[in-house]
Amino acid sequence: MPVGRVTLADDARLAASGARRLGEALADARAGVAFTGAGISTESGIPDFRSRDGLWSRYRPRDFSFSRYVASPQVRVEAWRRRRELWSRPPRPNPGHLALAGLERAGRLAGVVTQNVDGLHQAAGSRRVVELHGSSRFVMCIGARPRAGTPAGCGFRAGQDWALARHEAGEADPGCPDCGGLVKSTAVSFGQNLFPGVLDEATRLVRSADLVVAVGSTLRVHPAAGLPAAAARAGVPLAIVNDEPTSLDEVADLVVRGRAGRVLSAAAVLALA
Ligand code: APR
Repeated sequence: MPVGRVTLADDARLAASGARRLGEALADARAGVAFTGAGISTESGIPDFRSRDGLWSRYRPRDFSFSRYVASPQVRVEAWRRRRELWSRPPRPNPGHLALAGLERAGRLAGVVTQNVDGLHQAAGSRRVVELHGSSRFVMCIGARPRAGTPAGCGFRAGQDWALARHEAGEADPGCPDCGGLVKSTAVSFGQNLFPGVLDEATRLVRSADLVVAVGSTLRVHPAAGLPAAAARAGVPLAIVNDEPTSLDEVADLVVRGRAGRVLSAAAVLALA
């Protein structure tokens, strides 16, 4: 799939030509993999982390760590308050998510590897979604005093709505109904180990790809960012769609500087024409 060298699109016209070249690459793909980050969900109203007004410009990442969550009732209470606030108006998939789902249905993409926990790829219709950093759609018992970043719960697991309903009923820090342990979102926090098998599944998907399209990520957080990097080293064409430079621009075959929703929608129209 001749993608050619890097195209840095620095205005709408160039972004359109980048989207065209991405569309051509996707038209030839039969086992493409989308690798997504928080930037694909900002157009659904969910802030990303490292943009100028991202979450890390307002909060300290260490306040979101697994050990702080386990140690501090205040951190847990604040975490549930924020979740209830965010999910009081459930975010919806945007054109970027919908474009990727359409490309999977048409057989251009084999699936999505995402760093996001918002479930918007699945809500858009994507069927094969590997959630490297877990999912905020569920909660689980992590036990009373889990250590070293590994949940040690009794097996209780429920939809996030269970916890939000308990919070709404006045339980500021919902506990496990079966064992009394701590309850936490199944989104993986800083300092928490990835769930077993997830990285292997993502690695298998990327290794069998004939195109990797990284969308809306600074590509700075490992081990996740190691996946598109390894694909590029293995000679798999790498395209990047992002509205600012990323850590892998230098090794990408195509870089499209633009908004994910617009670029992916335009590229999908071309790829499916
Ligand atoms: N279109 C294109 N790019 C966008 C858009 C958009 N609509 N909105 C934001 N971006 C870009 C930002 O400019 C930024 O470069 O998306 C990128 C998002 O990068 P990060 O905020 O670093 O998010 P991500 O790469 O997903 O972070 C990885 O870090 O904090 C941890 O666990 C967290 O999964 C997350 C991981």
